[in-house]
Amino acid sequence: MSSHGTDLRPASAPSPIRTVLVGCGEHARVVNHAALSLIPDIEVVAVCDLDPTRARDAARQFGNCPHFTDLGALLSKTNAEAAVIIGPPHVHADIAATCLEAGLHVFVEKPLFTNLDDLARLSELAAAQPGLNISVSFNKRYAPYICRIKEILANESFGKPSYLYAKFAGGYRNGPTDLLRVGAIHYFDLARHLFGDIARVSALPYQKQAGQAHIAVNLQFASGAVGNFFLSSLGLWSAKGAEYLELRGDRNFITLDNLREFTWQKPPIAIRDSGSTHQAGIEVPAPAEYLEPNYSNISMLEYQSNHQNGYFARIEAFVADLRSGRQTGPGLGDAERALKTALAIETSMASDGAYVDLQTAATPQPALREPA
Ligand SMILES: NC(=O)c1ccc[n+]([C@@H]2O[C@H](COP(=O)([O-])OP(=O)(O)OC[C@H]3O[C@@H](n4cnc5c(N)ncnc54)[C@H](O)[C@@H]3O)[C@@H](O)[C@H]2O)c1
Repeated sequence: MSSHGTDLRPASAPSPIRTVLVGCGEHARVVNHAALSLIPDIEVVAVCDLDPTRARDAARQFGNCPHFTDLGALLSKTNAEAAVIIGPPHVHADIAATCLEAGLHVFVEKPLFTNLDDLARLSELAAAQPGLNISVSFNKRYAPYICRIKEILANESFGKPSYLYAKFAGGYRNGPTDLLRVGAIHYFDLARHLFGDIARVSALPYQKQAGQAHIAVNLQFASGAVGNFFLSSLGLWSAKGAEYLELRGDRNFITLDNLREFTWQKPPIAIRDSGSTHQAGIEVPAPAEYLEPNYSNISMLEYQSNHQNGYFARIEAFVADLRSGRQTGPGLGDAERALKTALAIETSMASDGAYVDLQTAATPQPALREPA
């Protein structure tokens, strides 16, 4: 992670990336703008929100830069290279398209789009402007303990990843698709980030009323590993354990509670012959690895949400990608796979839990409609 505060770049360093902020609501101001303000390689040159008070308040955080309520006006009056877009989910694709057409790189909060028409539109623009970076947040990939899990899966004695359980119990949601296409989309991306492509899903809902459901999902990865998602919009978002991951390999497993409490039950040191006819072996256990954040000396960067949820590191990676001209962070293709997982789950629920294949060329056609 880079230093912050004083700008120590040599005189020959390139000028900061001229960036505009579009959408200055709660999440933007409290999380993303706080992270951006700590990155010297970013210069916020203008901000925009439909709500003039929010636009003005956001501008105050960035040296009272010009603020707008209309994106067209901002783009016509501002010389910028990149846009950070954090609006309501259903307008992300539209705002991103306008910024791409104006020649700006875009960093968009998840979800980048919530339907296949918007995916097609952005794919066309990406093909027409291959030099522009189209990034989606998917910040949980950058959470410190998710990075630790990636290391263990790649380099240590975990063995072949064989089972993944993910829980996303994300509070009350507005519409029937909001849990899947907006909230749990994080975990569709994380599952793929950790275990590779999902091959098929089968899902059954317990729906209390429209938009408020428990959803139980069986899944199989292209690797052959299996797993389950438990997704819920029946409240308890702020409870401990609202988000949970478990990953199993050969005689060892990792659990992660709310991205903050990490346990790795390591493979046994040895397995002794049990001498029994019904037990295959007796394990000599290895010490487990436990990690949790240190809250005793909390700087802005260690502030639990920005650091522990990976927001800061995600934006830092976007800036590094713009500097290198390569895209290492999640983008259009990752957003597409995550949306298609959500659509496959919707399709399965509408057909009484039938398996939906995510590897065939045909796109799942969910029967549920998006909220207006
Ligand atoms: N990655 C995460 O963990 C995470 C967490 C929370 C929220 N989010 C995402 O952040 C986004 C914002 O969430 P929020 O709770 O702050 O919502 P919000 O409604 O408070 O903020 C959205 C803002 O966008 C503005 N806006 C709407 N249309 C606009 C337009 N065309 N041009 C300019 N401004 C426009 C609104 O006036 C509002 O101020 C959502 O898309 C959500 O999915 C992500």
